[in-house]
Amino acid sequence: MRRIFFWFALLILALFIAAGCGGKNVSPGSQPEPEPAPDGKKLVETRCVRCHNLSQATRAQSREKWPETVQQMIQKSPGLLTESETAAVVLYLQENHSR
Ligand code: HEC
Repeated sequence: MRRIFFWFALLILALFIAAGCGGKNVSPGSQPEPEPAPDGKKLVETRCVRCHNLSQATRAQSREKWPETVQQMIQKSPGLLTESETAAVVLYLQENHSR
């Protein structure tokens, strides 16, 4: 009789451990994944070529002017970029296409 109790207790314990540790792996997606940081280069290559070609869109400007230029482009095409995408695009242009 004692033996059965022992195994029963062990089983309960195992269930607790499984529920506690395995729970997250069993149901992926229960916790929202953090959004990956937007890729500025890819965004420029896909969003900015709608109205002019890439070489025009990436013609070197001063670092200070890029945020302004990108804002002007967004004004021409509302919804072109979200806030975080805008930041990524500006950073990419400043890092790679500034003079
Ligand atoms: C809705 C159409 C449209 C989209 C989308 C667009 N542009 Fe433009 N862009 C224009 C037009 C029209 C001009 C030229 C007239 C002007 O400067 O107002 C221009 C001009 C430019 C210029 C030259 C401006 C200057 O001051 O010499 C740059 C650089 C540029 N765009 C970059 C971009 C970038 C980077 C993106 C993406 C974030 C983008 N554009 C998206 C329409 C667009």
